[in-house]
Amino acid sequence: MTSLSAYLETRATTDLARAIAGLATAAVRISAEIRAPHSVLDAVAGDVNADGDTQKALDVLADEIILEAARDAGAAAYMSEEREAAIPLADDGSLIIASDPLDGSSNIGVNVSIGTIFSILPTDGSGLIDGRRQLAAGVFVYGPQTTLLVTVGVGVASFRMDADGDFRLIDDTVRIPAASGEFAINAGNQRHWLPPVQRYIADCVAGADGPRGKNFGQRWVGSLVADAWRIFCRGGVFLYLADRRDGFADGRLRLVYEAAPMALLVEQAGGRATDGTRDILDITPTAVHQRVPLVFGSCEEVDEVGRQHAAG
Ligand code: AHG
Ligand code: MN
Ligand code: MN
Repeated sequence: MTSLSAYLETRATTDLARAIAGLATAAVRISAEIRAPHSVLDAVAGDVNADGDTQKALDVLADEIILEAARDAGAAAYMSEEREAAIPLADDGSLIIASDPLDGSSNIGVNVSIGTIFSILPTDGSGLIDGRRQLAAGVFVYGPQTTLLVTVGVGVASFRMDADGDFRLIDDTVRIPAASGEFAINAGNQRHWLPPVQRYIADCVAGADGPRGKNFGQRWVGSLVADAWRIFCRGGVFLYLADRRDGFADGRLRLVYEAAPMALLVEQAGGRATDGTRDILDITPTAVHQRVPLVFGSCEEVDEVGRQHAAG
């Protein structure tokens, strides 16, 4: 079965292949830490990150492991959810690595899938460039299996880690089905949602008797990476849009190291990712930790959410 390095050899530049291989090695280490019989992974590390979230021990450890991978890969800089500002690395580096080292950290302590998200960028614009200019993006999921979704700009491939810590190809033409009957949203926030989201979800919940004329199921893991893996496998839509709570005017997720890499993967797998109106990949960030409203997944559903936004 094709290995990750063989897949990259014919599709990526030497620098890009080296960076992704390094990140895969980092993911093997993080995966091993998660599976090791520690009891401390869910412990609070005693600090808050740049966004004010309480850091867990595994957030800090994963960030250190990804930083080391970025340094070993000769990257010019590293941007992370866990670091206030970009960390400058090699002066002659040709790439910037941005990462959410540990996504879904509220699920660490309950044995639910978590993951690592990465974006690889050219060095121009100090990494604050629109998502279409990403050189590569990927997501590792630490679940029942450790898996990888990766794009180097043309299509998406999925891999599974084997017992030797090698990533083996599952599918080199990952496609998100255009239609689906599943939506993912944190319904506990319903009273805060804005009218377009209220209407979209009400229509889904009305099922075969409502305007959509079909039944929907609801799924919400609480780890973006795990909800995404499901959507890449069988379709669906994920919503974390703006809502009325203080601090949620731009949703919850971060553009540079969560939404933009996810959007590149989604578009390259034939799906769509928007902020309700604009393609995520067209948005140029102005700050490392900038948030962005995010809806992504099967085209039919993302388009329906877009129609609800156009209706006001
Ligand atoms: P992180 O653990 O990196 O802070 O990200 C958590 C994110 C994402 O994984 C998930 O979809 C979302 O937060 C869940 O948010 P709620 O707890 O508000 O549902
Ligand atoms: Mn995250
Ligand atoms: Mn995180």
